Amino acid sequence: MRRPLVAGNWKMHGTRHSVAELLAGLNAQQWPEQVDLLIAPPALFIQQCREALGSSPLQLAGQDCAWQAEQGALTGEISPAQLRDAGCQYVLVGHSERRSLLGESDELVCRKFAAALASGLRPILCVGETREQRDADETADVVGRQLQVVLDRFGVGGLAQGVIAYEPVWAIGTGLTASPEQAQEVHAMIRARLALLDDEQAQQVQIVYGGSVKADNAQALFSMPDIDGGLVGGASLNADEFGAIARAA
Ligand code: G3P
Repeated sequence: MRRPLVAGNWKMHGTRHSVAELLAGLNAQQWPEQVDLLIAPPALFIQQCREALGSSPLQLAGQDCAWQAEQGALTGEISPAQLRDAGCQYVLVGHSERRSLLGESDELVCRKFAAALASGLRPILCVGETREQRDADETADVVGRQLQVVLDRFGVGGLAQGVIAYEPVWAIGTGLTASPEQAQEVHAMIRARLALLDDEQAQQVQIVYGGSVKADNAQALFSMPDIDGGLVGGASLNADEFGAIARAA
């Protein structure tokens, strides 16, 4: 049985003071058991989070990582091994903001996925289509292409060592949440594509939804058979709302 997973992606938000306040709020939450819970702060705050969270069930994730596992001459980059050393268990790779705004290719994302696995991190592979691609009925092609480069290298078993996050770009930060039915349709398509290759492993892959997940829509989304939780942006910056979303998983 797949465990639900709820992750908070803080993106480029926070100061030491606001992070301290958010962490205090998170530590006051009643967290559900049997749910993988994690937060992805800006890398500057990973140590502060680790120290404040203590024995909390909240795990830590990087928001990105270098395409090579070990440290080296890559100015400005953070290696997945360094994230692991800092206390992270997960790392986002291929977030749509990095694909669209920083031009990250499917191949580069796959290299980051590989470096994360090599470092003992669970990579969260972000996939999703733009409004234009959805309107052109290209969602399956786009998401399929984003998955295929990783499938070709690691197979379904490799994906099962990580997590897939389906984040329709048109729902990110817009308040336009995909309906549970819309999200389920894509999640089911992803799982069916994986099942064609390895059904047993396909049933193990955690596929979470991201895109304007809020406390008032989480339950409906997470009740869908192929939605295994959420990747939460804006709402994860509010401890009570993130706690409510986690409890809906
Ligand atoms: O990675 C999660 C993020 O892209 C979703 O953002 O603000 O729509 O929940 P938001």
